[in-house]
Amino acid sequence: MTVYEVIDAKKRKDELTEAQLRFFVRAVADGSASDAQIAAFCMAVLLNGMTEEECFVLTDAMAASGERPARPPVTGVIADKHSTGGVSDSTTLVLVPVLCSLGIKCAKYSGRGLGHTGGTLDKLESFKGFRVGLTAEEFAAQIGRVGGAVAGQTEHTVPADKRMYAVRDVTATVDSIPLIASSVMSKKLASFADVILLDVKYGDGAFLRTAEEAVTLARLMVRIGARAGRKVSAAVTNMDAPLGDAVGCNAEVREAIAVLGGKKNALAELSLYLAGKLAEQALSLPEAEARARVAEAVASGAALNKLAEIVAAQGGDARAVYDPSLLPLAPEKTVVCAEGTGVLRIAARKLGEACLLLGGGRQHAEDGVDHTVGILLRKRAGERVREGEPVAEVYRRGAAEEALARVRAAFSYPKDYAPPALVYDYIRED
Ligand code: URA
Repeated sequence: MTVYEVIDAKKRKDELTEAQLRFFVRAVADGSASDAQIAAFCMAVLLNGMTEEECFVLTDAMAASGERPARPPVTGVIADKHSTGGVSDSTTLVLVPVLCSLGIKCAKYSGRGLGHTGGTLDKLESFKGFRVGLTAEEFAAQIGRVGGAVAGQTEHTVPADKRMYAVRDVTATVDSIPLIASSVMSKKLASFADVILLDVKYGDGAFLRTAEEAVTLARLMVRIGARAGRKVSAAVTNMDAPLGDAVGCNAEVREAIAVLGGKKNALAELSLYLAGKLAEQALSLPEAEARARVAEAVASGAALNKLAEIVAAQGGDARAVYDPSLLPLAPEKTVVCAEGTGVLRIAARKLGEACLLLGGGRQHAEDGVDHTVGILLRKRAGERVREGEPVAEVYRRGAAEEALARVRAAFSYPKDYAPPALVYDYIRED
């Protein structure tokens, strides 16, 4: 068998056999498949699709392509949550401490921001000294000691996905449902969480634009998880407008801390909804009781204190959890005012792109990030605004003309507009 033959078969719309898929993934992981061959394979899958059986085998082979960290010797279930990527989405920073404070262990491998989407690892590095590069042993030990850890996957976990994702990113092959499903689920199956909640986003600021595509992806990932013996559920959620009122690392960390202190907005609503769904499964509780416990974890301050504990455990300056001045915003500020009168509509993708242009995101995986730049919204999507009213503040270094233009272009003022419901669907295999 050759890599060429596998690509050729997919090009001809054949259903690939288990042997062909495992051969291809081995060739990706050991370097014998070239980037050009990976690109051709991914484009053939994007155009011709995959059966569920093919997708399951591809995921399983990718999950087995590297090291699998050992499960720490803890009692009770271990939970994990994964979002397919969005703008102003700091749900992990809220959800993990909430769950840990309820005694639910959390093993969260997160990623860096890419393109217009923000990354949890970049946000955590807003805490001076925070180490995202834990070894598998440190990661497991922290889950036992503190209850949870959030870190980047090591070089050796799921190497097949690392190569395939890097190639997809530059060959317009990210938005393929079987490729997204195998990429996300291979990383979940390579780790040891028992209960996994996927936040599958759709809309302007997400990789998938329609709710129907997101539901298809969510169902596929839930079934892949079930076949692998994991409890996987998925929330399909809207990402037309940014989730919170802040875009940019320090600004988003401040906002997550505010939500743990009781602030109410869409970020709080979604984070606590997702935490409730995980608590329901992890503690086998009725939905209402799970939600009540989650609310109490915030009201009592236990979740906020748990965030400080996790930050300190990973070497970060936990004083910032109680003192936002340790998460500074960039020194130059521009207030952006409404250029029309109507109902505010906000395009999340443009704000994410603006943050990237300000230096707050990365265009290439190896780029650095300015944690202090960002955007604070003064009005939310769906609010009535009058021309001239302030709608946002942009924190920048230097002129940033292009970023400011992108921020202005993110706002429109239709006469009528109702933002879509935050949660479109919830999918669980019972
Ligand atoms: N997130 C992933 O991990 N992989 C994808 O393909 C898309 C989003």
